[in-house]
Parts: sequence; structure tokens; C-alpha cells
Amino acid sequence: MRVLITGGTGLVGGALIATAGSGYRLTILHQRDYPVQADGVEAFIVDVRNREQLSDLFGRGEFDAVIHAAGIASVDYVEHHVEEGWESNVAGTQNVVDLVLKKDIKFVYLSSNAVFDGRQAPYREGDSTNPVNQYGRIKVECEKLVMRLCPEAAIVRPILMYGWQPPHARANPATWLIDRLRRGQPTHLVTDVYENPLWAGQCAAAIWRVIQMGKTGIFHIAGQDIVSRYEFAQLVAGVFGMDSTLLHPVDSGFFPAIAPRPKNTSFLTERMQADLGLDPLPLREGLERMRALGSPLTLSSHT
Ligand SMILES: NC(=O)c1ccc[n+]([C@@H]2O[C@H](COP(=O)([O-])OP(=O)(O)OC[C@H]3O[C@@H](n4cnc5c(N)ncnc54)[C@H](OP(=O)(O)O)[C@@H]3O)[C@@H](O)[C@H]2O)c1
Repeated sequence: MRVLITGGTGLVGGALIATAGSGYRLTILHQRDYPVQADGVEAFIVDVRNREQLSDLFGRGEFDAVIHAAGIASVDYVEHHVEEGWESNVAGTQNVVDLVLKKDIKFVYLSSNAVFDGRQAPYREGDSTNPVNQYGRIKVECEKLVMRLCPEAAIVRPILMYGWQPPHARANPATWLIDRLRRGQPTHLVTDVYENPLWAGQCAAAIWRVIQMGKTGIFHIAGQDIVSRYEFAQLVAGVFGMDSTLLHPVDSGFFPAIAPRPKNTSFLTERMQADLGLDPLPLREGLERMRALGSPLTLSSHT
């Protein structure tokens, strides 16, 4: 099966490449100019905002499935660069969907828990969306676009993810924290924002199952344990043997400059379990799997 992964050099893309079975031939695209080392994977620099570049790429290969993970995924960056955020995500998704429709290709869109306002957790797939920040509004718009034009698509909503990111990708809450604790930096973490964090490897496993099983509709993908960011950090420090006295609990008011966050977007994962046959991984187990893989860590800023 020939699969195109847009955003193939990000956290999700890296995990998809690492977990793809032998029956898949992978092509990835990303935007910035850097070399990609991934055995057996064809990589192209294509901006999803550029219809011509995208169309050329679709012309080169007959893809059986497209996993659309490209776009600016930083909540705080998008809050302050709204137009760029819409272009990269909404216009980019429209361009990808147009080509998918022309060729009748199986489509998986990566959305987010940011579509919810965090007031009525835990959330099922059918619950009403009501985003509290620009990033969430963009994700809702992309979901609407995908559902309207491509009703046979699958929309995967991962929750807050952790794992070793590929060399040029953003850090995530685990790798950001590990880097800070290695440097001995005191770190403030909020006690009033909750998720059930997801190991990127399990997110990728869920996406591959969606494709293998030909699933459609929305899927909430999350880990087993609902924790605050402070509790998450304590567990990271424990599993990686780092100094937890550097961690300081605060509430969201401590960070007035960042984008508003929904307080509790934890997911119910009945569909992930019943339809995909995947049991959400306990947080400690996900972190232990991450530790067992060893750190290829190259860090960029966490946002
Ligand atoms: N990480 C999470 O915790 C999380 C949680 C919920 C949902 N999600 C969603 O999952 C998806 C993937 O997230 P991620 O964390 O893997 O993202 P990421 O690590 O930030 O990677 C983003 C990827 O998209 C590419 N990209 C960005 N703008 C592009 C453009 N205009 N044209 C082509 N490629 C572009 C980047 O390429 P370059 O490196 O070349 O810029 C990179 O490969 C996103 O839709 C995100 O909203 C992520």
C-alpha cells in the first residue's frame, strides 16, 4: 500500500514511519529545507499551501492513502500568527482534500483535543465542539471542511502527545522537560490543565489501524491516565531519574502571556478500544517505553 504522510517529519510523522508495517511504501512531505534520513522513505519538500507543488507530487505517485498531519501545530504560535495559522492549516487542508477527492484516495485527517472548551470532560467523539483559542478554531474549521467534502474520511483527534521527536521537530512536554531538568532548570507547571497524555507510538498504531481496517468518522486517541501538567512532569522526572525538586506547581494565572488553554479536555476512548482494538497505554508505561528507546534528543523550543 502506498501512503503519503504530510508533515512526515513531525512527532506524529516520525512515529508513523517508525511503526509502519512492511506492507507500506511511504512518501512524506514537509516544508522546510533540511535533509531527511529515513530508510526506504521518499521525502519531498512541498508546502501544502502551494497547490501547484502539491499537485505535482500527487501526479508522481498513485497513493492509496493520505495521512494529513502537516500544518502549524503550535498553539501559542498560532494565537499570535492567526493568518499564517489559517493558511497553513485550513487552506493547506483544502488543497490536500481537493487532490484526494480527484483521485478517490483514503484520507485520514489529524485534528486535536483543542476543539473542546474543557468544561465538560471527559469527551466522546460526538460531543459539541467549542474551542477557546485560535488553534482550536482552526481545527474545528478543518474538521468541518473534511466532513463536508470527504464523508468517507477518518478524523483522528490525538490528545497531548509525548515521545522522542525527529531531529527538526518541535519539542513536546516530555522532551522539553527532560532537557530542562538535565540542565538543572527550575520549572513551573500548571496544576489546573488536565489531559490523558498519549504516547506518540500509540497514536501512530491507532492511525495504522484506522487505515488497515478502513475506518471512517472521528476517533479520540488518548492514554489511560488523566493528569495535570504538574503530575505529568512528576512522572517524567520519576521515570527518567531526574530531580523532581526542580518542579514547582502553579496555576494557569502564572502564565498570562500564553494562549488560553481549555482546562480539562480528557477523552473517553471507547471507540479506540472497541473499533480499533487498542487499550490506552498507562502513562508510566508509555514513558518507560520512551526511556527504553533511548534518547536521540535534538531539541528545538517547546511551544
Ligand atoms: N503533538 C501533539 O501533542 C498533538 C496533539 C493533538 C493534535 N496534534 C495534531 O497532529 C498533527 C501533527 O502534529 P505534530 O505534533 O506531529 O506536528 P509537528 O511535530 O509540529 O510537525 C509538523 C509537521 O508539519 C510540517 N508542516 C508545517 N507546515 C507545513 C506546510 N505549510 N507545508 C508542508 N508541511 C508543513 C512540518 O514540516 P517542517 O518541519 O518542514 O516545517 C512538520 O513535518 C497536527 O495536525 C497537530 O495539530 C498534535
